[in-house]
Amino acid sequence: MRVKSGIPGFDRLVQGGFPAGSCILLKGDSGVGKTIFGLQFCILSKDPAVFVSLNQSKESLLEQASQFGWKPKKFSLLYLDPKDGIGYVYERIVREIERNKAKRFVLDSLSVFTSYATVTSPKITGPRGQVFKDLEALLSTRPSPGLFRVLTDTFINEIRKLGVTSILISEGLESDRAAEFSCDGIISLEAEVVGERLERTIRVVKMRKTKIDGGRHSLEIGKKGIKVGS
Ligand SMILES: Nc1ncnc2c1ncn2[C@@H]1O[C@H](COP(=O)(O)OP(=O)(O)OP(=O)(O)O)[C@@H](O)[C@H]1O
Ligand SMILES: [Mg+2]
Repeated sequence: MRVKSGIPGFDRLVQGGFPAGSCILLKGDSGVGKTIFGLQFCILSKDPAVFVSLNQSKESLLEQASQFGWKPKKFSLLYLDPKDGIGYVYERIVREIERNKAKRFVLDSLSVFTSYATVTSPKITGPRGQVFKDLEALLSTRPSPGLFRVLTDTFINEIRKLGVTSILISEGLESDRAAEFSCDGIISLEAEVVGERLERTIRVVKMRKTKIDGGRHSLEIGKKGIKVGS
């Protein structure tokens, strides 16, 4: 089964949509449109969705969405403070997905989640966040690339078990490299100044179970949000 992205012009690049239940990494530099893409994936669909931000307030995100005239329905937007610890953040994510019976999930961003893994937090996690407790303790005392790999793989596997189609936003940090191999798909957003214009492009780097159009395509952010061109 294919899950429509909600981005006009995108689904033709991936055989009609994302494979249901897949975990997609959406990567790109600052300002390329990652957050807008994630919001649009959640809001322009009839599926219940959960969007978790670790770096932008709820008010700011709702203002951004309202600029495009989007009226969120079965949409749950959560700001979580990464300083509360990744175990706690994960516990809240699971609870929200279950409460909203979500079919779609976006994390903005995986980079922040991973970066804060070395912060030990006094917040008590519930049973679901427990899976990260030992890792949190190890990462805060002896962080290593191997441990970050275990963390990323554990997180992605846990998210997959929830049965949602998910987009994990990546700022392209070195610590996100492991996620590129563990996730089911990668979408890359880029922006380049050409003359006096900013040219935005999108490229599907990988999508398991899918014959992709892996070329670079133009991306526009207009009055109604993002659309993919030729
Ligand atoms: N209403 C709008 N019309 C046109 N372009 C817009 C509109 N709102 C935002 N943008 C463009 O979208 C860009 C920001 O997009 P977005 O917040 O999704 O980026 P991002 O990749 O999440 O960046 P960061 O990594 O810094 O969070 C802005 O820099 C702006 O150029
Ligand atoms: Mg953003």
